[in-house]
Formats: sequence, C-alpha cells, structure tokens
Amino acid sequence: MKHIPPVITIDGPSGSGKGTVSYLLAKALGWHLLDSGALYRVLAYAAQRAGVLENQSALLHLAETLEVQCGKDDQRKTARILLNDEDVTDAIRAEEVGKNASKIAVLEDVRLALIERQRAFRLSPGLVADGRDMGTTIFPDAPLKIYLTASPEERARRRYGQLLAKNVDVRLADLLKEIEARDQRDQKRTASPLKAAKDAILIDTTDLSIEEVMERIRAELKRAFNGAVDFQ
Ligand code: DC
Repeated sequence: MKHIPPVITIDGPSGSGKGTVSYLLAKALGWHLLDSGALYRVLAYAAQRAGVLENQSALLHLAETLEVQCGKDDQRKTARILLNDEDVTDAIRAEEVGKNASKIAVLEDVRLALIERQRAFRLSPGLVADGRDMGTTIFPDAPLKIYLTASPEERARRRYGQLLAKNVDVRLADLLKEIEARDQRDQKRTASPLKAAKDAILIDTTDLSIEEVMERIRAELKRAFNGAVDFQ
C-alpha cells in the first residue's frame, strides 16, 4: 500500500500564533512546513506587481503557474517564502499585501487553483500545514487538527508589537479595526470560510505563552499518533 505522509493542520485567524507554532512544530519534528496564507499573499503580491489584481483570468493564470517554495526561516522562526527563487518573506508581510490577499482569497476559482498545489506539500516524513481551511478543505483526513484562537484585542496587541519592533508607525485602534474587518471577510466568504473543523482541537492562546501552546499540542500529538510522534 502507498504510504501517505502524515499531516498536522493548524488553522485560525491571523495573530492567533499559528505561524510561530507551525514553524516550531515543523522544526521540532523535522517535517515540512506549508504556510498557505503565504501562497495567497504571494499571489496578491505578484498580481499587484503585474497590475492584474482586478483581472480574474490573469489572476487565475498566475495562481496556476507561480513558482513558490516554502521553507523554514530559522532566524525569524517563520516560513521562508521564495517566488521564482526571490526571497519575498518580508515583502509579502506588508499590510497592503495582506489586505489584497484576503480579497483574492474570496474568489472560488483562485482557491480551486491552489488546492492541488497545497496538497503537493504533503511529503515524507510529514507536513505541518498552517492556514484557514487546512483541516476543513485541504487535508480533511489529517490525523491531528488544531484550531488556534485569541481575542481580537490580544491579536491586535501582538501585531502592534511586531510592527513597533520594525519601526512601523501604526495606531492600535486602527489595527484592531483591520483585524475585525479581515475576520469578517475570512469568516463570511462562501468559498471555504475560516472555521474550525468538527474534529479540531480548540486552543485559545489569549493568555498562553508559545511554550504553553506547544505543551498542549505535544500532549495532543502523543494522543493522536499513539505515542509514535513526539518532540523535545
Ligand atoms: O495567514 P495570513 O494572514 O498570511 O493569510 C493571508 C490571507 O490569506 C488571509 O486574509 C486569508 C487568506 N487565507 C485563506 O483564505 N486560506 C488559507 N488557507 C490561508 C490564508
């Protein structure tokens, strides 16, 4: 029988901690990492650059042909994203790119074009897949599904801290408004909306440190894989 590599899905809204947690988990297990949000961001970024954000057929063509690689950035403890061999890890984090990514993510054809591309990341020895619909749509057979949440206020504070560290001048109140608008858009869209899979383990990270979240996940991992998968 063909061996299908295992997948752990980590879904949730932005600022829930899933990017860092997914990186740490993939690193600790020695598994591959898929930052699916980065695929939507790369697509938005490439479309912005080509001036085709509003042109659906050009967008679709880009979605089908983009050369994207997703590795690990050990310094920043996140995914490292390459677009046609160009490191776009930082460029795709711009607020503008995030906003456009959220807009194109509502388009059903764009999502369909990205399905197989995301599944192709499922390689031996295993995959940690970070996103919004990893457990519901892309890898519904994943043996372990985690759904991370945090209050919008806490997520805005985390984002504020990240931007301050980068000397970006923003107002906390504006960030909170943007986060709430993006949540609405991600949750209300008809194509694969942001929601927890029925069999997902919910973890509210509002008052938890990353270490505490990792401990919770480690316990779930041991249970889901009968002790066969673990990390230090
Ligand atoms: O996680 P992120 O902020 O990098 O994601 C950027 C946008 O992409 C987000 O607004 C929603 C969308 N997205 C999605 O629709 N489905 C995914 N699996 C991942 C991200």
